[in-house]
Amino acid sequence: MYHSGSVRNWKKYLQKDNHDLIYSRITGTGGYLPEHVLTNADLEQMVDTTDEWIRTRTGVVKRHIAAENETTCDLAEQASRKAIESAGISANEIDLIIIGTTTPDVIFPSTACLLQQRLDIHGCAAFDVQAVCTGFIYALDIADKFIRTGSATKALVVGADTLSKIIDWTDRSTCVLFGDGAGAVVLEASDKAGILSSHLHADGEYQELLKVPAGISLDPDKLRDGSAYIQMQGNEVFKVAVNTLGRIVDETLDANHLEKEDIDWLVPHQANTRIITATAKKLNLSMERVVMTVDQHGNTSAASVPLALDVAVRDGRIKRGDILLLEAFGGGFTWGANLVKY
Ligand code: ACO
Repeated sequence: MYHSGSVRNWKKYLQKDNHDLIYSRITGTGGYLPEHVLTNADLEQMVDTTDEWIRTRTGVVKRHIAAENETTCDLAEQASRKAIESAGISANEIDLIIIGTTTPDVIFPSTACLLQQRLDIHGCAAFDVQAVCTGFIYALDIADKFIRTGSATKALVVGADTLSKIIDWTDRSTCVLFGDGAGAVVLEASDKAGILSSHLHADGEYQELLKVPAGISLDPDKLRDGSAYIQMQGNEVFKVAVNTLGRIVDETLDANHLEKEDIDWLVPHQANTRIITATAKKLNLSMERVVMTVDQHGNTSAASVPLALDVAVRDGRIKRGDILLLEAFGGGFTWGANLVKY
């Protein structure tokens, strides 16, 4: 297994695959957005805001919102079917399912188990990972570790959320930011390098800055009466996010003995154009090398990174062999990055 520091000449390693090791590679991607589109003009009719404020402060132009009876698993299923199709495998070959989500359909079974049933897959491990917007980055690292240790060979890794269901639609400071969606990848065992390294972090000290303060064992009445909403001190979150993502860029480059110019594409969590621009600047990366979907999708939480990846793979920007930096920051706080040779 590769560990940072164990390979002297990392650049050689990027070019040459070590056939004695098991790696995990992304072999298929998929994405899905609900049909209903909510524009900034629509929001102007709902709360005291303007298209101009939303565009300049966040970069969001529109977002997709799940229908009342449309669930996180519904979105995950669509994205997963596309990822499986693009990997060219059949669903019953999958031997691990992990979903990053904060908005599961029900308390249990896990959304991963619900998805497993939809895809007619039986018996493999299936579980959810709750790391809010960083959920997919966490899930990809976990799946990579299953594959590298020989515990799985074909993993379905999904980021899916319907944050619209926990938004206070009268709170202008949060309702303009989020959208719903799902993104998925198939990760397969390979003798070619794929996921090069992952870096996961969390610090519960910041829990008060971004939260939904209701659940099963604390304030369950809010769940019952539908008043469990996202609360965010946006300005404070913004400052920590910019600094933290800057640090994770350095950490990822250092661990892999890479220079900034070795990164071909930044595939960031799509929370805010200004946060993404700051991270790109840290990498000396021109915005043409940054996959941006925040304008079209808003912040889709755990779905945002795999959705952005799918968009850039399908439109031909990301090509086989490219080095990608995936990163995210979210409630907890949680944050992390995956360095990927696509
Ligand atoms: N329309 C118009 N005015 C607004 C709106 C709105 N939709 N929302 C807030 N304002 C006002 C505020 O009331 C405030 O007015 P005041 O100066 O009179 O008090 C003013 O705009 C500035 O508010 P700030 O909160 O300071 O605005 P800021 O420039 O920080 O932008 C934003 C807010 C977009 C939320 C930004 O702080 C941000 O992106 N934060 C980070 C979000 C993030 O990354 N979250 C992590 C991932 S999400 C997850 O994990 C679920």
